[in-house]
Amino acid sequence: MKIDPWSSTTYQDYTRLRDEFGIAEFSDDLWRDLPNPHRLLRRNVVFGHRDFDRIHEAVVHKKPWAILTGLMPSGRMHLGHKMVIDEVIYYQSIGADIFIAVADIEAFATRGYTLEETKKLALEEYISNYIALGLKPDKCHIYFQSENMFVKDLAFLLGKRVNWSQMLATYGFNNSTNMAHIFSPLIQTGDILHVQLKEFGGVRPTLVPVGVDQDPHIRLSRDIAQAHRIFNVTITKDGRIGVFVKVDSQIGELLDHAEKILKKLGFSHFERITDYKALYINDANESDIPHINEVFAQDEPVLCGYGFLQPCSTYHRFITGLTGDKMSSSKPESAIFLTDTPEQARKKIMHAKTGGAVTLEEQKKHGGLPDACVIYELFLYHLIEDDKELAGIYSDCKQGKLMCGQCKKQAAELMGSLLDDIAVKRKNIEDKLDDYLK
Ligand code: TRP
Ligand code: SF4
Repeated sequence: MKIDPWSSTTYQDYTRLRDEFGIAEFSDDLWRDLPNPHRLLRRNVVFGHRDFDRIHEAVVHKKPWAILTGLMPSGRMHLGHKMVIDEVIYYQSIGADIFIAVADIEAFATRGYTLEETKKLALEEYISNYIALGLKPDKCHIYFQSENMFVKDLAFLLGKRVNWSQMLATYGFNNSTNMAHIFSPLIQTGDILHVQLKEFGGVRPTLVPVGVDQDPHIRLSRDIAQAHRIFNVTITKDGRIGVFVKVDSQIGELLDHAEKILKKLGFSHFERITDYKALYINDANESDIPHINEVFAQDEPVLCGYGFLQPCSTYHRFITGLTGDKMSSSKPESAIFLTDTPEQARKKIMHAKTGGAVTLEEQKKHGGLPDACVIYELFLYHLIEDDKELAGIYSDCKQGKLMCGQCKKQAAELMGSLLDDIAVKRKNIEDKLDDYLK
């Protein structure tokens, strides 16, 4: 199995996907003690992660951390796109620095838009709605890939540590893939890692919340981040904790430097094997590694390295389209757009595919299937905040106490108020854009 970030496949079996790609399960202990955990976290819509523990630790200890995510400005913004920004707004409320990349180069390279078209779409469809949904301007930066020299420079320079066969194996490019497309994963790596440059707040844990189709880019960024480190802090096969120099010159000096840092951290039992470029720390435990690693990473810019920490990620499930397959901008009847009127949304909801039985009789007798119902999904992902109320709908449906007609009506009403609310908030937004595009 291969994940293709540019195809329109839907993924059904998230557990299998998670296991196959070494994505970790997003278990309760990762979000339970966060302030007011967001419904997408509580309800297992976010189902997997890489290294979210580092973010959890930063939040709990009130240390700086950042979010970087991107939007592909192609087509209109729908409820599927809303999920990432809902997460971002939540993370902003608990202290993250926010960075949002408008993937105009990627849309140009892979979808055939001009940069002008993507700019208009990004502003009118996405950014306006982000602001209407509650994204705040403080500590928030929205930028266009094509206008960010730091991102573009990194894309070129970081490409040094990835070779063609790795790109081929990851993305399945072929001889007729255009070069801008081939280059776009490196631009995305530039997006993801540039927030750790000193100009953007320095080395710190960074979370990239995405749909699982983006995982190849996450893996590439994580590999590249690690490949550019001067020091590798790790546990060896025989269980020893060590700091290893990854470059080929000034090894003695770098090991001296490492020892100094470790002493400051309170360690004192070292064994140095210069031939292995290694400094073993005999009084460290495996659980010390992440902290030691962060301290070394933060120090690397002093040594003219980047010191990038590997970016962390979370993966959310995709919302099902109202027609039962993928929610897609190119099929308007499958999607509710954030600029739809309540009436347009109501019509789509009334036609939606539910988990109801064929006849009312049957449904009263055997109940419905909320787990296979797009109306229930609307409640779960977007419309009902109260977990008890949601659980009530779930069990009423299963027990045959709730019928689809009534249920759809409730969904249409809630959706109508949501759309009305953001339509009002979208008014006069042009004056505010400058506070975000900085
Ligand atoms: N490739 C992403 C998409 O297709 C957009 C994107 C660009 C992005 N840069 C990013 C996503 C950085 C996450 C992080 O939607
Ligand atoms: Fe879906 Fe509601 Fe019908 Fe149950 S009653 S199947 S949740 S629409």
